[in-house]
Amino acid sequence: DVTADMAVIASKGSKTVRTFREQEERKNAQEKHWELAGSKLGNLMGIKEKVEEDQTANVDYKESQKFASHMQDTEAVSEFAMEKSIKQQREYLPVFAVRQKMLNVIRDNNVVVIVGETGSGKTTQLTQYLLEEGYGRNGMIGCTQPRRVAAMSVAKRVADEMGVELGQECGYAIRFEDCTSDKTAIKYMTDGILLRECLGDPDLDQYAAIIMDEAHERSLNTDVLFGLLRDVVARRTDLKLIVTSATMDAEKFANFFGGHTPTFEIPGRTFPVEIYHARTPVDDYVDAAVKQAVRIHLGGLDGDILIFMPGQEDIEVTCELIKQQLSQLEESPPLAVLPIYSQLPSDLQAKIFQRAPGGMRKCVVATNIAETSLTLDGILFVVDPGYCKLKVFNPKIGMDALQIFPISQASANQRSGRAGRTGPGQCYRLYTERQFKDEMLIATVPEIQRTNLSNVVLLLKSLHVDDLLKFHFMDPPPQDNMLNSMYQLWTLGALDNTGRLTELGRKMVEFPLDPTLSKMLIMAEQMKCSSEVLTIVSMLSVPSIFFRPKGREEDSDARKEKFQVPESDHLTYLNVYVQWQKHKYSTKWCTDNFVHAKAMRKVREVRSQLKDIMDSLKTEEISSGTDWDIVRKCICSAYFHNAGRLKGIGEYVNVRTGIPCFLHPTSALFGMGYTPDYVVYHELIMTAKEYMQSVTAVDAAWLAELGPMFYSVKESIKTHREKLQDSIRTTASMEAEMREAQKEILER
Ligand code: CDP
Ligand code: MG
Repeated sequence: DVTADMAVIASKGSKTVRTFREQEERKNAQEKHWELAGSKLGNLMGIKEKVEEDQTANVDYKESQKFASHMQDTEAVSEFAMEKSIKQQREYLPVFAVRQKMLNVIRDNNVVVIVGETGSGKTTQLTQYLLEEGYGRNGMIGCTQPRRVAAMSVAKRVADEMGVELGQECGYAIRFEDCTSDKTAIKYMTDGILLRECLGDPDLDQYAAIIMDEAHERSLNTDVLFGLLRDVVARRTDLKLIVTSATMDAEKFANFFGGHTPTFEIPGRTFPVEIYHARTPVDDYVDAAVKQAVRIHLGGLDGDILIFMPGQEDIEVTCELIKQQLSQLEESPPLAVLPIYSQLPSDLQAKIFQRAPGGMRKCVVATNIAETSLTLDGILFVVDPGYCKLKVFNPKIGMDALQIFPISQASANQRSGRAGRTGPGQCYRLYTERQFKDEMLIATVPEIQRTNLSNVVLLLKSLHVDDLLKFHFMDPPPQDNMLNSMYQLWTLGALDNTGRLTELGRKMVEFPLDPTLSKMLIMAEQMKCSSEVLTIVSMLSVPSIFFRPKGREEDSDARKEKFQVPESDHLTYLNVYVQWQKHKYSTKWCTDNFVHAKAMRKVREVRSQLKDIMDSLKTEEISSGTDWDIVRKCICSAYFHNAGRLKGIGEYVNVRTGIPCFLHPTSALFGMGYTPDYVVYHELIMTAKEYMQSVTAVDAAWLAELGPMFYSVKESIKTHREKLQDSIRTTASMEAEMREAQKEILER
């Protein structure tokens, strides 16, 4: 049976790639990205050239032993070892000592910038102080977070402190999940949520106070909110706006809101942290971090360990390796190894805050989230490989990609600071002092200057910010970025030639989705397959549907194979959902088929929320029945800019740019003996190769019909160069038209 054989090959392939990918991702990070930081990000900041290899770092890990003897039985350590009541814990926080003074400043000013070390109590206490002080009478107290995990976990903590049920007096809202009620007085939310709320409520009238937390992170949404809220506070004198930051560059925030904005500093309570740099550049940071953690654990000193890793895969490998190494030792003290990253289920996330059973030492392995967003008590050792994942617009592929980059000096210092919260600590940097000084940027480039802005452009346009180049940004995005994003929106039909929002664009804004996905949903009504596309879009909004437990790889791959629709990953997702629906949304069915039940329930929830929005737009849910070809065409209508043409087995090239892109071995199209001439894809992931993620086979004629600005039927005659020139010409003429329109408006 040929198909069965193919299936085995496909599953074997995917296994190798997985390990290969892990290795490659790490290697890439080390070799390429130092360089990239110097060139790509560095160009933006005007950083120096990369310097030759470090020979001079003079600190050795062994020196840490000298410091060791000071560390036993510090007062602070023993104090924290005691269990305290919630009230005592709250009153122990640095912010409590200045409570009244701070509230006086807030009373006398509409905008206040508050600076305090991580862990001083800004996020958990400020909202409660404002509520206690009576600000809740005129509306909610909102607090924005750049990260979903932080919004959820902090809301939970504050609900506990208030002694209420989460979602009642204190709740949170993140995309596709609203855990608030009529009673909610304190609302934590992602900055993206507040940004969307501006659409329906430009003055944010339901809030009496807004805390923009973690402003130093400079997330894209926070930066846009800055510009919008600056006008809101000018209109609403009854609104309190508080901007908090963990770093000292708060002056910049204060200046942005005008000369009178005061900065209030929460006096810190920090302990010294000894910093050790690697003597020579490290080859494999996961390996080095694991060794360092084990060394600390066996070193005989008390205190929890915090290891930073760029992403989920590295975190999982690190946890696994630490456990493995310790289990190989004859006698090792117990260690609770705990991962934390955004896709981790929330019950597991909560674990990092709990005391480990029997007073066991904790070793938390975290993404950047532990840098400032979440405070862990009891950390005395930090292991910092010096990398993080950043979303960066990649001009080569014409879209954003998550890539591993070296962190900035500011981040490195924040990370080491995490060791000195409850007692004197130690930080092990897995990079040389020379790398720190010469190759790391002073501060991370704000997201607004390095990512695709189409979402922001769409949002601002619908808020009637017509001239985006004049919008009050704290740090304006590069003009090229802005024009690029506008061009993308124009190709999708969301903007007209003069840069104004079209009817389609106006509809697209209503969906909390990327413009491509909203476009697909809206097109689906015309193409009479909105029911199917609604499911596909919902499936794309959760991270992973299939699971592949250790030891049962073959079983799970075989099950997955059964769902696969050979022409399309999107239709494969649809198929999974349809089957699940047929089995009455059963959890058992999920488990039997190696499908994440929780993820599927989330999909169902997302689907019903998107359905509500469709209803409000009077968009009908129509099923195409058994005709899934029309669904593929609809997918093509949104993704035509990401089209690939067949070049070899499993190998495609982007039709517009000529960049090679590959089928991932986990794709439904991989190794099925069926190789369509043209495909479109959801995104490219850059690991060992440029892999296309979520791929669908399309007809060449559809591309010409749906993406006429890029393709024509005769297109094969044109050379790549000609096509590039075409696209430059289109952009240029669009810019010229926009300038004309602008002039007209001014002259009127
Ligand atoms: O925002 P900031 O970094 O200034 O501090 P915070 O997040 O308000 O943290 C204050 C205290 O609350 C710390 O001691 C945390 O450990 C604790 N906390 C907690 O126990 N559980 C959470 N989910 C969040 C904070
Ligand atoms: Mg905080």
